[in-house]
Amino acid sequence: MPLFRASTEAETIALGERLAAKLPRGVVLLIGNLGAGKTTLAKGIAYGLGAALPDDVSSPTFTLIHEYGHGLVYHVDLYRLEESREVEGLGLDDIIDSGALVLIEWGERFPELFPPPRTEIHLRALPDDTREIELRRLG
Ligand SMILES: Nc1ncnc2c1ncn2[C@@H]1O[C@H](COP(=O)(O)OP(=O)(O)OP(=O)(O)O)[C@@H](O)[C@H]1O
Ligand SMILES: [Mg+2]
Repeated sequence: MPLFRASTEAETIALGERLAAKLPRGVVLLIGNLGAGKTTLAKGIAYGLGAALPDDVSSPTFTLIHEYGHGLVYHVDLYRLEESREVEGLGLDDIIDSGALVLIEWGERFPELFPPPRTEIHLRALPDDTREIELRRLG
C-alpha cells in the first residue's frame, strides 16, 4: 500500500490535498498517536475536495462532528467517547450512507462499528517531525 512522507505541517496538508481525489467515499479512519497529524491531514483532504479552506478546518475533539462543503466531507473525533453505545448515538450510519467522505479520528477504538469496506490512513511521527503516512484499503 502506498507510503508517503511529509516533513512539515504544510507538506502534510499538501499531501491530503493530493490524496483527496483518490479516497473512495465512506469511512476513512485517520489512525495515529496524539499530535500525529490526523487533523492536519484532514485540513488538506477537505481543501482538496473543495469543501473548506485548510484554516477553516478545526479539530472536532469537543464538538465531535464537523461538516464541510454542504455534506461533502464530515470530520469526526471519537477521542472523548468511551463506549460503542455513545458512538452509535451520533447518527454516523446515516452520514456514511449519504455518500459523504467521513474522516474519523480515533475510530479504530470501535472496530465493530466501522466494518470494511473502509480506508485507513496511518500516520507516524518520526524523531525529525517528518510524518510517515500510509494508505490502506480494507474490504
Ligand atoms: N510533518 C508534520 N505534519 C503534520 N503536523 C506536524 C508536522 N510536523 C509538526 N507537526 C505539528 O504536529 C501537530 C499535529 O497536530 P494535529 O492536530 O494534526 O494532530 P492529531 O493527530 O489530530 O492530534 P489529536 O490526536 O490530538 O487530535 C501540529 O502541532 C503540527 O504543527
Ligand atoms: Mg486531531
